[in-house]
Amino acid sequence: MDKKKMDMKKRKIKIIGTGMCVPDKVLTNADLEKIVDTSDEWITTRTGIKERRIASENQASSNLAIGAAKMAIKNAGITIDDIDLIMVASVTPDTPFPSTACWVQKGLRAGPIPSFDIAGACSGFLYGMILSESLILSGTSKRILLIAVESLTKITNWKDRNTCVLFGDGSGAAVLEESRDESGMLSYYWKADGNLGDLLFMPGGGSRVPIRKENVDEDLQYLHMKGNEVFKYAVKKMGLSAVEAVKRAGLETKDIDYLFPHQANIRIVKATGKRLNLPEEKVFSNIHKYGNMSAATIPIGVHEMFAEGKLKKGDNIVMVAFGSGFTWAGITYRW
Ligand code: UT7
Repeated sequence: MDKKKMDMKKRKIKIIGTGMCVPDKVLTNADLEKIVDTSDEWITTRTGIKERRIASENQASSNLAIGAAKMAIKNAGITIDDIDLIMVASVTPDTPFPSTACWVQKGLRAGPIPSFDIAGACSGFLYGMILSESLILSGTSKRILLIAVESLTKITNWKDRNTCVLFGDGSGAAVLEESRDESGMLSYYWKADGNLGDLLFMPGGGSRVPIRKENVDEDLQYLHMKGNEVFKYAVKKMGLSAVEAVKRAGLETKDIDYLFPHQANIRIVKATGKRLNLPEEKVFSNIHKYGNMSAATIPIGVHEMFAEGKLKKGDNIVMVAFGSGFTWAGITYRW
């Protein structure tokens, strides 16, 4: 049987609508120069970031998630009543419990459908898609609302120049159901290694280091990262995930129309593109305007490209991520 026929036979899930939401407030590199000892030149050359969006005091992750979800539902041409499960990927939930998904369920006035969070960090959206495939193809769910949302600036230490210049807030969402045509998720690859957890983590706020005054005095409520070490793993694992995802789809690099790498650093984005031998115009990046929004970077990127008319039916795309855990994943998807 030729490959095209095989693809058509395999049951797949597909995205039927996407949406995004970012806060209005913009923080530029020039603004950061006034807060910490940094420069636009350093941030631009080391990371590719020019500005990022910042959630306001009264804007929680669920507010951004609801914005993205409403747009995805509208773009899918359905209503909230057509959704039978809500999954939220986030490391910056509204509250440790209940889940952000439950706050979103309330905000969307959804029925009593199962709603829960997953914590895959920057790989969270891809983890969510892979999990959704099992839920949908097993018959457990018919139509899933998958939202990735982060309010990373709420756990940013504005005195630490090593991290505070990197992150931004935003949400991307997708509605998923079983595909009835050739489009959909063709393959995936997902991994984790908990041995390296303390290279990128938030030490406080959990059961290990509860919120207590002495812990807050030591800044343990903030994100901590050994950037240089994380960088090396990110380049290696994102490249590997991209290669594996393409291989598992039975495709070759020449078949790939766009690569959507997690937007942590423009140098990692470019290195991942090179690993697949893709020309620069096939490697998506929006890091200059949003910074690193963890799990939200990939669905926002896909939404933007589709909304701009740049993603066409039949395009083969690869989404690839790496983040805290460490977690990493790759998905090949036919639009
Ligand atoms: O999303 C999840 C995954 N996250 C990532 O993949 C992030 C991976 N890491 C990175 O993107 C990069 O490692 C960073 C952008 C965080 C840092 O870039 P780097 O090229 O690895 O720089 P570095 O940490 O080795 O620091 C180089 C120098 C240091 O000064 P010295 O020791 O050489 O004098 C830093 O103190 O740059 C200094 N530095 C800064 N200078 C100006 C660090 N941050 C800044 C800053 N402004 N904001």
